[in-house]
Amino acid sequence: MKIAYFHKIAAGLIISVSLTSCFKDENSPGYEYMPDMYRSPAIEAYIDYGEVRTWIPNDSLKNRLTALQPPVGTVPFQGSNSGNVYLPYDRMPTKGMDKTHGISSVAYSDSDYVLSALDKNPLAFNQENVDKGEVLYNRFCDHCHGEKGAGDGKVSVSSNGLIVPPANAFEKEDGQMFYSITYGKGVMGSHASQLNKRERWEVISYLKTLAGKEIPSVQEVVEEVSLKDQLLDQVAHLADEGDHKLELRDLVFKTGSASLDKGKSKETLETLVEFMKTQSVSIEVDGYTDNTGDSEANHELSQKRADAVKKYLEKNGIDADRITAKGYGEENPVASNDTEEGRARNRRTEVIIK
Ligand code: HEC
Repeated sequence: MKIAYFHKIAAGLIISVSLTSCFKDENSPGYEYMPDMYRSPAIEAYIDYGEVRTWIPNDSLKNRLTALQPPVGTVPFQGSNSGNVYLPYDRMPTKGMDKTHGISSVAYSDSDYVLSALDKNPLAFNQENVDKGEVLYNRFCDHCHGEKGAGDGKVSVSSNGLIVPPANAFEKEDGQMFYSITYGKGVMGSHASQLNKRERWEVISYLKTLAGKEIPSVQEVVEEVSLKDQLLDQVAHLADEGDHKLELRDLVFKTGSASLDKGKSKETLETLVEFMKTQSVSIEVDGYTDNTGDSEANHELSQKRADAVKKYLEKNGIDADRITAKGYGEENPVASNDTEEGRARNRRTEVIIK
């Protein structure tokens, strides 16, 4: 009797255990016997697990594979190694920075701040980079350094002189400013976590303008690039929005007439012919004058000048259907007509590539 009772209990237990083991819990992964095979352990590149994230260096973790630099030629690269945008920065913080700025590092160097003066900004010093730098400056630096970099930001003024950056802070060399933005300087902390390397160089471009350096005007830059390269560059960007317009410098007409000065304009004309022969594009040639004299006559002259360029191209084997000629007279001036220099700029021929 007792044994039969025990059998019943045992049977009941087996049934309930096997039933509950079959219940599905959608939130549970169940047992994982080889988790490494289906979950990839995250490896963070360039992190030396032995030091970066901790105050107490752990030598056994130092310099493991993930902390090594990539082999030469495998990571996109711009500028010299110290001024690069993509690879780790190879200038070290000074020893004192572990106490003053909380930077614990694999290695320290007290001479790298001085040496950093040799590092050049790998970005072009142009309006685009300066504009990007300005946005970042207003976000991260303006409250201490002040709108114009005079050291009179809101924080500096209200802190009784405790955080007053010097007014000449931005007169340092580019590379040194990069170093100080990266690791900090004096009361200023490191901004390496707010700005990536490219952004630091962009800010530096802006700091240079605050320190009085002028951006070379677009005209100067354009003059350095040959007309052929400019034309090809426009073609390469045809898919982008906006006009693909270029001024044909060194295209000269005899004064008050629509006949081309073929001597002075030779190179421009030949470049244009070669361009049209090698590229499958159409162009519009636009003629402009300054505002001296009768505007109706100016209009007519500009049309004749545009026609003359078109005719030249046709004579040199370019299909007439690919060229439109338009005269705009004194419309759309690009400079003031009040000075001789401005008027000379307004008398011009432009091409629009289509
Ligand atoms: C908390 C206020 C504060 C902020 C925010 C700040 N700075 Fe500074 N900065 C200072 C002070 C103070 C100094 C002077 C440090 C010294 O020489 O002791 C300084 C110095 C500098 C220098 C000169 C470094 C050198 O090598 O002498 C540069 C360049 C600079 N800052 C750039 C920046 C940029 C760029 C930002 C924004 C990304 C920024 N700072 C944000 C306070 C600040």
